[in-house]
Amino acid sequence: MSLQTTYNPALPTCILMDSGVGGLSVLNTLLAFNIPLNYHYVADTAFMPYGSKPVDLLRSHLVDLFSQFQARWGENTFIALCCNTASVVMVHLPWVPWEEQPKPNFPLLDIITPTVESIAQVQTTKKPLTLGVLATELTIQSGVYQQLLQQNKVDFANFYGIPCPQLAASIEGQPNVPSTETLLTQFLAPLQQTESPLDAVILGCTHYQFVAESIQKKLPSVPLISQSAVMAEKIASAFNLPFAKELPVEPMQSGSVTVWTTGSPEAFQPLIPQFLPLLPTTIVQPFYSGS
Ligand code: DGL
Repeated sequence: MSLQTTYNPALPTCILMDSGVGGLSVLNTLLAFNIPLNYHYVADTAFMPYGSKPVDLLRSHLVDLFSQFQARWGENTFIALCCNTASVVMVHLPWVPWEEQPKPNFPLLDIITPTVESIAQVQTTKKPLTLGVLATELTIQSGVYQQLLQQNKVDFANFYGIPCPQLAASIEGQPNVPSTETLLTQFLAPLQQTESPLDAVILGCTHYQFVAESIQKKLPSVPLISQSAVMAEKIASAFNLPFAKELPVEPMQSGSVTVWTTGSPEAFQPLIPQFLPLLPTTIVQPFYSGS
């Protein structure tokens, strides 16, 4: 039985966003767990990659983009940041360049907070921990993961923050970028020779969930911390919806699912069957067409 999606005016609307396919890992989980909402997924491919952009530039771009979300879908519609880099600049870094202009009051759900909280909740006898994070350059340079881990009283002594430039683009199969295998071999090398054994590695960019198996092969005995389920649960709870502990046998139905891109729909369309397998024939819409 396949997934049925129908617009249901009785259901709330939820916006999910990322620079590209990464946040589809969260949408896949929401659909698989039958969380009933009308979804708009916006892939900001015209501005991808986020991870190599200066903070101020990305922040002003996102303020503009989110204002357009509000104009289109209403001011109170939740915007789920299914992107670590957007969460860093919009939620976690101080709003210094904008002091004269107050921080805009968007209803944002960030992805880093539930990820770190899920680590803090794990009961472990081994302390202090040795942790790794794979993420974009901007996320690693921000130091936000270490800060939040400390604030959440996670006891860690060694922390390996690995910036992975071009990895998200490579996962999307973009041209003129080294293969995912080449990049992973390079980026994971420091994690294969840590002084004390790694207790966990956080996949701190939503794109990386799609290559979790390849990462696991290179780090065979290391637990990988995925973000899709914790973020899906956070979104469900923002709408007061229950989130089952176990995956339902068959996803049955959801509200509507509309996928938008700020870039070229023709370029994004071929990615849908691979990255949104529950709805492989979804037609990608142009965000800026005024439709
Ligand atoms: N998927 C995004 C994240 O979680 C970022 C990818 C990019 O650099 O655009 O950080």
